[in-house]
Amino acid sequence: MSVSIQEYLRRAPATSKEIQLATSQNQAAVSRQLRAMADSVIKIPNGRSPLYALACNAFGGGDRFSIFMVDAQGTPSPVAYLRPLAHGGFFIEAFTGIPSVLMGDSKNGLFDDLPYFLEDLRPQGFLGRKIAANLAGQDTHLPHDPKRWSKDQLGRYLVANGDDFDFSGNLVFSLQGCLRIRRCIEKHGEDDYSQLAEQVLGDDSYGSSAGGEQPKFTTFCRERQRHVIVKFSPKGESDVARRWRDMLITEHYATEALHVCHTPAAETKLIEKGGRLFLESIRFDRSGEYGRLAMLSLQVVDAEFVGDGQSWPSIAEAMLKMELMGSLDDFFIRLLWCFGRMIHNTDMHTGNLSLSIEGDCFKLLPIYDMCSMGFAPKSGEVLAYDFVAPKLDDLSLEEHECLVLLKATQFFWESISLEALASDELRAFALSQLQGVENEK
Ligand SMILES: Nc1ncnc2c1ncn2[C@@H]1O[C@H](COP(=O)(O)OP(=O)(O)O)[C@@H](O)[C@H]1O
Ligand SMILES: [Mg+2]
Repeated sequence: MSVSIQEYLRRAPATSKEIQLATSQNQAAVSRQLRAMADSVIKIPNGRSPLYALACNAFGGGDRFSIFMVDAQGTPSPVAYLRPLAHGGFFIEAFTGIPSVLMGDSKNGLFDDLPYFLEDLRPQGFLGRKIAANLAGQDTHLPHDPKRWSKDQLGRYLVANGDDFDFSGNLVFSLQGCLRIRRCIEKHGEDDYSQLAEQVLGDDSYGSSAGGEQPKFTTFCRERQRHVIVKFSPKGESDVARRWRDMLITEHYATEALHVCHTPAAETKLIEKGGRLFLESIRFDRSGEYGRLAMLSLQVVDAEFVGDGQSWPSIAEAMLKMELMGSLDDFFIRLLWCFGRMIHNTDMHTGNLSLSIEGDCFKLLPIYDMCSMGFAPKSGEVLAYDFVAPKLDDLSLEEHECLVLLKATQFFWESISLEALASDELRAFALSQLQGVENEK
């Protein structure tokens, strides 16, 4: 028994030939009906035989959702419509000028699931879980962990919050979101940081989505006149509080050490206030009050284009071969990975490295969350500083690359050994590591 075109396309996108066979109709009849279906049928480039897919309503809204890119001046430009498809996938209906990487690995804009760059807007980490818990309080069907939200739940969240100023990068989802881009922003000075920390720890209504696991808040810093992400240590002088202070200190000096070697790293500042240490990091995906810059995590880029799920260097190498990344970034990523290993960074997952979009390629953004995470308290326990750095021979770097690595590592341990805010144990440990680096030279 033959089926209607709608019924057939509800199963999967199909070529005209396939539709003719399934519906027992000739080409002229199929073409006529496809034309009559107007905008509810979408033509997808697919070599010589385009695919036809059936659009459907989604996220409690219509069958098309605008996606905008905001530039460094805060001006949004529409780049595409997201078209939910009846068989379960999505299509990116591109406007002129859309970066080609947003069309995905298939290059034709057809995705089996939500496009990878929207997946990056899923609330993440410490603040993401707070947002999810708040929403779950209002909607009993919504899981408390945003990682477990279905694509429909994520889509509905994006429709309602598509302009969240704290989303990473410069994509804004939905027209409602676009209209709110230039809303008035709250500004704070360093003196407000203690209060903001208390607020984010205690007040469930504090909304933001900066990913990652450590307590943090985002704001526009009056002194810096820039958007910032601020992590902070627990209050007081307990072993755990002191160790988290040390972790923030290692993060600050890791960025300084990388700057010395001209490697892209965030601009950070340590601020001691009200019994806490704050690590303020200037947001490189924001410019002025309203400007935004592209930022996509290596995690979603890897999942879409490589599928390696392994180390930063192996993903970078694959991207270099696919001409999705330049050789300088490939070098920096290997260097960052080796530097992380030298300073006991046990947290170099693919969410801790991000890329911007440049032409038809990705470009490495400044590194963040680069710290000696292997020494962080585990289940409330603080272990003694103890770590043997890898041998340079085991890092598969060229000789000149080793010299850059040693310079950064030396600067890192030396600065920490001199930092009065660090614990005595960390300073003594830094001195012993410094000795090791000097012996390697
Ligand atoms: N300087 C920065 N500019 C822009 N985004 C940043 C910056 N620092 C961190 N982020 C974003 O915030 C997220 C959380 O920050 P991160 O330092 O990784 O925190 P955590 O230690 O809790 O994992 C990161 O995954 C990244 O998306
Ligand atoms: Mg992180």
